[in-house]
Amino acid sequence: MQKPEITEEMILDCFAAATPCEDSRETAESFIDVEMYENQVMYPEFARWAEKAGYPELASLFRKVAGEEKLHAVWLRELYENIGTPVHGEDTERAITALKTIQANCDALIKMNPDAVIEKALKVAIMVEQREALDIYPEFRDRELKNENHAAAEVYQRVVDSESEHMNWFKSALSELTALKMQAVPAYN
Ligand SMILES: [Fe+2]
Ligand SMILES: [Fe+2]
Repeated sequence: MQKPEITEEMILDCFAAATPCEDSRETAESFIDVEMYENQVMYPEFARWAEKAGYPELASLFRKVAGEEKLHAVWLRELYENIGTPVHGEDTERAITALKTIQANCDALIKMNPDAVIEKALKVAIMVEQREALDIYPEFRDRELKNENHAAAEVYQRVVDSESEHMNWFKSALSELTALKMQAVPAYN
């Protein structure tokens, strides 16, 4: 049987990036689409992996972050009337497919080497949050400042702060996981 393989790049493919548009409402729709994808698909899947790998606390952290991604969508929805549930953007569709593609390999690999999958998922979660906190959403905020849409700019700033917090939580979780692994290695000196 072929050995299942999964790389950080394959997991990172499950990240969908929101797209800025000329129109403020279209930007908001892309944002809501991505945040709801993270809430309903990406982080629940990461939580499932953590649970299967025997890390229930980490699973709780992924679920907590998932809940906050929904909140980000709620904050922005309040500013636009009848925005409803936006249709999936191209990148979200691509990410959903990528996630389905690696699912079987992930399940097999978690059985063989749970720590490796969890470590990669955490590294990807850090990358995702970092891109949103330092790159994608500051750009959204600055666009809205230029448009003099201060209410939206304020929401994007709150989101930037929240994504930074997520990044730091995942960084701490990865440090803890690394420390645990080092403890598990017997010392020969
Ligand atoms: Fe978010
Ligand atoms: Fe986040």
